[in-house]
Amino acid sequence: MPAITFITDKEQKFDVAEGITILDAAEQHDIPLPHLCGGAGACGTCHVYVRSGMENLSEMTDEEADRLDDAEDVRTNSRLGCFCAIHGDVVVEVVHPE
Ligand code: FES
Repeated sequence: MPAITFITDKEQKFDVAEGITILDAAEQHDIPLPHLCGGAGACGTCHVYVRSGMENLSEMTDEEADRLDDAEDVRTNSRLGCFCAIHGDVVVEVVHPE
């Protein structure tokens, strides 16, 4: 079972179901990851920085890359939480906690 660590103003680690998205994992555990479009891939607010485990996330799609272009403070390790399925351990920093 994969584990995800969320970094906000604190660090919290949870075991999650294989294939769940970062956004769904955040919602299950009351992590303040914004999602203005409700996870429809339309807003870019579910922005995270992947500190480790990028290889354990689903590949970035063209749609995610396009949406990420609209996000602020994009870095090479930026991903959008509603696009990323978790397949192994990962550590993510929430860019703009709610
Ligand atoms: S929640 Fe809107 S793009 Fe992810």
